[in-house]
Order: sequence, then C-alpha cells, then structure tokens
Amino acid sequence: MDRYIIAPSILAADFSCLGAEVKSVLSAGADVIHFDVMDNHYVPNLSIGPMVCEALRKAGVTAPIDVHLMVRPVDEMIRMFADVGATYISFHPEASDHVDRSLQLINELGCKAGLVFNPGSSLEILDWLLDRLDIIVLMSVNPGFSGQRFLTHILNKIRLVRDLINSSDRDILLEVDGGICLENIADVAAAGADMFVAGSAIFGSQDYSEVILQMRAALEQAVRLK
Ligand code: DX5
Ligand code: ZN
Repeated sequence: MDRYIIAPSILAADFSCLGAEVKSVLSAGADVIHFDVMDNHYVPNLSIGPMVCEALRKAGVTAPIDVHLMVRPVDEMIRMFADVGATYISFHPEASDHVDRSLQLINELGCKAGLVFNPGSSLEILDWLLDRLDIIVLMSVNPGFSGQRFLTHILNKIRLVRDLINSSDRDILLEVDGGICLENIADVAAAGADMFVAGSAIFGSQDYSEVILQMRAALEQAVRLK
C-alpha cells in the first residue's frame, strides 16, 4: 500500500548504535524515520536534538525525517532542524505563542509543516489553520515516553480529522503516534490514518522486517474492510 506510511520512532531504538539502527529499520522496509525531540519542559523527558539529525544525514540517511517537537518554545528548534535536513516538522500548538507564524516559518524554510494534538487537546484551532498544514498528528498516548498503551477513544478523533481533511481541498497526511502495534494498526487505518508511528512495536522486536511486513499485511486487510 503506497499510501500507507510506516514511521518507526527512534525513541525506542538502541541509542548506543543509532546510525546502524536507523539503517537497519530502513532496509527492513520503513518509509520514514520519526524523530522525537523532548526538552524536559514541555514533556517530562529529554531526548535528541538537531545534532543527532545532522549526524544521521551525514551518515548517509536519505529517507524522510519526521521531526516531532515536544519542546517549548518551538521557533528556534524549527530553524535548527530545517538547517540539518528535516523533512517534516511538527509541533504542539500550545507550545508556540504564534502558531500561524511558526507554521509559516516551517514552510518558508522548505519543510513540510504539521501540528500535533495531545489526547486531551481540542481540534478547534484546525478551523483556522488547515491551509498551512501538510500533516496533522494525533497523539494516541500522552507525549513523553515510548511503550505506552494505545488510547482507543482516539479512534473517534481520527475519524473526525479524516472527515475534516476529506472535506478540505488540501492533501494533508494524517499521522497517528503512540502505542501502535500489530493488534491495532488495522483499526487505526480503518479510522482514516495514513501514517503510523511505531516505536516499541518495531524496535522492541527481534526482526524489524518481519514486524513491518506483518504491519503491511494488516494494513491491506484494513483496506479490504473499507
Ligand atoms: C511519545 C512519542 C512517540 C513514541 C512512540 O511521546 O511521540 O513517538 O516514541 O513509541 P511507541 O510506539 O512505543 O508508543
Ligand atoms: Zn512522536
């Protein structure tokens, strides 16, 4: 399924050999690398920054890099990640004082722009910002950690955003982040997602190709159900 994008989150990778992990998950069939950036202010955890993204690019990683900013404020990080080869840059609207301006900044710097919604966040802001967006990310766990359980009520939110995108004239990707695994990926797709972030389900397995293959098989089933 070309339209479905599998994006392993490197938050669950072995950081002692990150370059090798990224290369092996890409050769196992991943489409995009999901890159979680945490600042210990917006979320209670600290992860990786622009230098690590730059190192991956310098090591020859050419796949799209999907930067998920869990930082506050966002603008300086947007500039730095655009500079080191990010493809998508998404941030949480409550982390920017001027959301529209931050989205414009991402576009001006040549990256694809996204907003991320926490499980408890309202979607109202989308009424005013759809024209600026290339991607919408719905969190299906609270941000900060890998390995949490998928919140099933987010399936309804996915359906809502799918309808919103379909009724717009824009080609916006719908990404779902958190707790996605073999057991629920078909439901997430059937609800309307295009892009699936999976950290522990992929990096926690022994055989990345096998999990990705099984995820694609589950996604094909979801299409048949539609
Ligand atoms: C959580 C991150 C997710 C997380 C996904 O704050 O945004 O990308 O790493 O990991 P799993 O798939 O293990 O929930
Ligand atoms: Zn993420």
